[in-house]
Amino acid sequence: MSFVRFLGTGSAAPEKVLANADLEKIVDTSDEWIQTRTGIRERRIADPGTATSDIAYDACVRALESASVDPVDLDAIIVGTVTPDYLFPSTACILQSRLGARHIMAFDVLAGCSGFMYALQAGKGIIDGGNAKKVLVIGAETLSTIMDFQDRSTCILFGDGAGAAVLSESDTPGIMSITMGANGSQWELLYMPGGGSRIPASEESIRNRSHFLKMAGQEVFKEAVKAIESSSLEAIRLADLTPDDIDLFIPHQANYRILEAVRKRIGLPVEKVFSNLDRYGNTSSASVPIALDEAVRSGRVKKDDKILISVFGAGFTWGAAVVNW
Ligand code: UT7
Repeated sequence: MSFVRFLGTGSAAPEKVLANADLEKIVDTSDEWIQTRTGIRERRIADPGTATSDIAYDACVRALESASVDPVDLDAIIVGTVTPDYLFPSTACILQSRLGARHIMAFDVLAGCSGFMYALQAGKGIIDGGNAKKVLVIGAETLSTIMDFQDRSTCILFGDGAGAAVLSESDTPGIMSITMGANGSQWELLYMPGGGSRIPASEESIRNRSHFLKMAGQEVFKEAVKAIESSSLEAIRLADLTPDDIDLFIPHQANYRILEAVRKRIGLPVEKVFSNLDRYGNTSSASVPIALDEAVRSGRVKKDDKILISVFGAGFTWGAAVVNW
């Protein structure tokens, strides 16, 4: 019997830090409001000209190093992102060339903040189907490029960064369960109006600030709590485990109050939840793989630990997985 395991992880973020105090000078907000309502203290912001593939490349190199895998041994590259370098070609193709991988399949998935989980599911499926042995999955964002720094309800939340993982065919269990979902009926609660075929770029679209992320925060908050709770419990059930068996929970890093609400509903103690939200803010597709990499590198994850990861994002989309490390 064949399984799919994580062989290694890596992450990267721009050096530039945007602290809450810096945002106080840009919009009508306060460090106190941001910390109390979200748990965020600072986030990383890319310099102008830095694209998603630039940050992702560093994360990929680190993941490949930690997995001891040469880029020429990869069979597929999948990037989850809502901020690709270009609408096309895919950021995955740019990385395929830059990493020096063979002419393997390379594509992006667009699933809001759930991009990494969707990429993980796709990578696992390709390995399970016998079409690949090693797949590089990435969640990477340069959200600062679509932030409206006149909108205090969104610009305080998001940051830039990338996380990557090498998946491999294995004789021993790794990914024990994955569950995914989507519900497009409320897509307008979190989206970017401009730049696609509905509202192509024009002087008017720029005047209307259509090329920035729009979010109805409170509604998204409620949906996130419900979806992360139910998909997490489903992933635990599919893995034939109970919440008590989970050693570490790494949820999408969107808001500390969401993490707390979900933790209580699932019934996990505080010490079993990993969060780096205070230092990165919400990095969308990059949030779970950055947190996973930091958890692994800091020794919070040990061999055979049962890790629960879960995501929620625009679409709406969601997903959760239990991994035997
Ligand atoms: O990753 C994808 C999923 N995204 C998320 O999960 C985000 C989910 N949503 C959230 O995290 C929260 O809804 C927010 C952090 C966005 C907002 O927190 P909230 O507790 O839901 O605040 P609110 O939107 O209900 O706003 C409360 C008040 C309002 O003022 P009034 O109407 O009560 O006078 C806002 O205008 O806070 C005001 N406000 C701010 N005040 C200071 C909104 N943003 C700010 C701000 N600084 N940055």
